[in-house]
Amino acid sequence: MSEVRVEGLSKFYGPTKALDDVTLTFPDGGFFGLLGPSGSGKTTLLRAIAGFVQPDRGRIFIGDQPVEGTAVEDRNIGMVFQNYALFPNMTVAENVAFGLEVRRIPGPDRAKRVAEVLDLVQLGPLGARKPSELSGGQRQRVAMARAIVTRPRVLLLDEPLSALDRALRVEMQIELKRIQREVGITTIFVTHDQEEALTLSDQIGILKDGRLVRHGPPRAVYDDPQDAFTARFLGEANILTGTVEPNGLRLADGTLLPGVTTASIALRPEVLTASVEAPQTRHRLQARLVQRIFSGAMGTCIFDWQGQTLKLTAPDRALGGLPETGGPMVWLSWPETAALALRDGGSS
Ligand SMILES: Nc1ncnc2c1ncn2[C@@H]1O[C@H](COP(=O)(O)OP(=O)(O)OP(=O)(O)O)[C@@H](O)[C@H]1O
Ligand SMILES: [Mg+2]
Repeated sequence: MSEVRVEGLSKFYGPTKALDDVTLTFPDGGFFGLLGPSGSGKTTLLRAIAGFVQPDRGRIFIGDQPVEGTAVEDRNIGMVFQNYALFPNMTVAENVAFGLEVRRIPGPDRAKRVAEVLDLVQLGPLGARKPSELSGGQRQRVAMARAIVTRPRVLLLDEPLSALDRALRVEMQIELKRIQREVGITTIFVTHDQEEALTLSDQIGILKDGRLVRHGPPRAVYDDPQDAFTARFLGEANILTGTVEPNGLRLADGTLLPGVTTASIALRPEVLTASVEAPQTRHRLQARLVQRIFSGAMGTCIFDWQGQTLKLTAPDRALGGLPETGGPMVWLSWPETAALALRDGGSS
């Protein structure tokens, strides 16, 4: 069993709280996506698990074993960091074999394992090439092969795809997920790209200023963000804030949203409907259409409401009834069940 668990983990650099009391379980064999703004502690958390960073407080368990006293090389962890450096003067096969040599795996066994892993990452025929003779995606796969050839219990990936262009990145995402499934290894994956995290992960966690703000299955967090930071960070959100009255939420322009019991709600851009005629729904408001943006299949409309920008996305053909140029007041409405209650008053 290779579940990873951190308990009350804190790390300070002078006044900076890189990690602030983080408690989290990374399930055995799961793919965990770690998200957060720059400087939120993602790399620090991976480095602490790997053993490169000594936490000031808290504990780390791999399997059921605490790893405090365990050196980096004995933690049995595979890593791919953002600027993974392959040895330029070694061949692909030698790069992959390096970790096995360090562990004194005998020659024949070593060659067999290198061949297996190169097949797994679909680089079988390229073992004799030098890194300079590979494409970006192929180099990336060598780095993956190198990380898993030692059969680690845990795989830590720190933005491994960020150097790749979009098309290759998507291809590598599929590849990465396939490899992870085949090997069944507990994986912790850091990314800035929320879409990438949603696509790949069984579970996600969101860090902010060293604190774990939310974690859970991607859909559960997206569908119930609970606080404004998570709503905005994972996807896009229009946040409406007002005063709670006995029969609903009263917004600044006098609009009453019946049945809402929190001072703040989030509305995803895709749940909004715009119409010139007043809709027959209880959840609606009037806003000024500022801009209608065509970007292929999907269209975006930008509205000004009480000095606040609201955003709507919909298939472009569904926006046909709206004026092309901005200016007029239109109605925005949404299904009542689409209003996501925020428990933090919408301020974070
Ligand atoms: N060795 C260090 N010395 C001092 N401060 C550090 C050190 N390493 C990290 N920090 C600080 O700790 C905080 C967390 O850094 P960390 O690298 O974990 O962030 P991150 O979430 O990985 O960010 P990014 O998305 O930019 O990679 C930052 O404020 C950073 O400046
Ligand atoms: Mg980082």
